[in-house]
Amino acid sequence: MKKKDKSHSHSHLAFDHVSFSYKHSDKFTSVFDNINLTIHEKEFVTILGPSGAGKSTFFRLASGLEQPESGHIRLRDKEERHRLGKIGYMPQQDLLLPWRTVLENGLLPLEIKGMNKKEAREKVLHHMKKFGLLGTEDHYPHQLSGGMRQRVSFLRAILGGNEILLLDEPFSALDSMTRYMMQEWLLEQWHEWDKTIIFITHDVEEAIFLSDRVLMLTHPPIKGEIDEVNVPISRPRNEEHRSDAAFMKLKQDLLKKMRSKERSL
Ligand SMILES: Nc1ncnc2c1ncn2[C@@H]1O[C@H](COP(=O)(O)OP(=O)(O)OP(=O)(O)O)[C@@H](O)[C@H]1O
Ligand SMILES: [Mg+2]
Repeated sequence: MKKKDKSHSHSHLAFDHVSFSYKHSDKFTSVFDNINLTIHEKEFVTILGPSGAGKSTFFRLASGLEQPESGHIRLRDKEERHRLGKIGYMPQQDLLLPWRTVLENGLLPLEIKGMNKKEAREKVLHHMKKFGLLGTEDHYPHQLSGGMRQRVSFLRAILGGNEILLLDEPFSALDSMTRYMMQEWLLEQWHEWDKTIIFITHDVEEAIFLSDRVLMLTHPPIKGEIDEVNVPISRPRNEEHRSDAAFMKLKQDLLKKMRSKERSL
């Protein structure tokens, strides 16, 4: 397993004085006000926060589905307006195409890249096996459980092959056993792929287990520098780390921090 040293790594995604509000009829909801943030290459960062905090909005901006009102979003230090093709994005609501089977949904990013049909099929089937989806190739999305749909959507985001992946609560509909397994699987893949991952969750333990750094959002508008906590737990991580004293202490600290942030609003 490769050792990751991020101390000298470069910026992969940067928000520089970014402001953004939603506008509907005459109303404005300011979500970000002048925020600054840098995610480094090959980092695993989680965004933790309650419902309505602005987590998915952050992804909509990062992926280019929305553009900032002011400020700059940079990919590898280059301002980039067309970010959608350069970022693997798994949205919170799975966007599976209902008229395509599971296999055909999985093939979509590879078709877009023009990959040979046979090779693409083999690649998707290989991933489906890893994701516990074999046997569902010919099913349509409406025939799957919520957790299965999430996994298909996750698989599709990964198959896009981009170096930066945004995963919006990818495991929220999974039972706790499957969820633990998927977390461990994701970490193994991350070590193998060498990608940058930004992962949204409501779950403090999931945030600690997975990431190098946890960014905390509480309530919009989010202003200035984003509060963050480093996770000084060694890698590779496994099930046993969850019951380490350092892990438990960090969990308590994070919960306390989130509570005090909410109280100070
Ligand atoms: N399309 C929209 N139009 C107007 N307001 C919106 C829109 N989408 C989100 N908002 C508002 O922006 C704020 C942030 O929403 P966002 O979806 O980013 O939250 P979130 O942290 O992802 O929440 P959850 O954990 O529930 O997914 C909320 O106040 C929400 O009501
Ligand atoms: Mg959301």
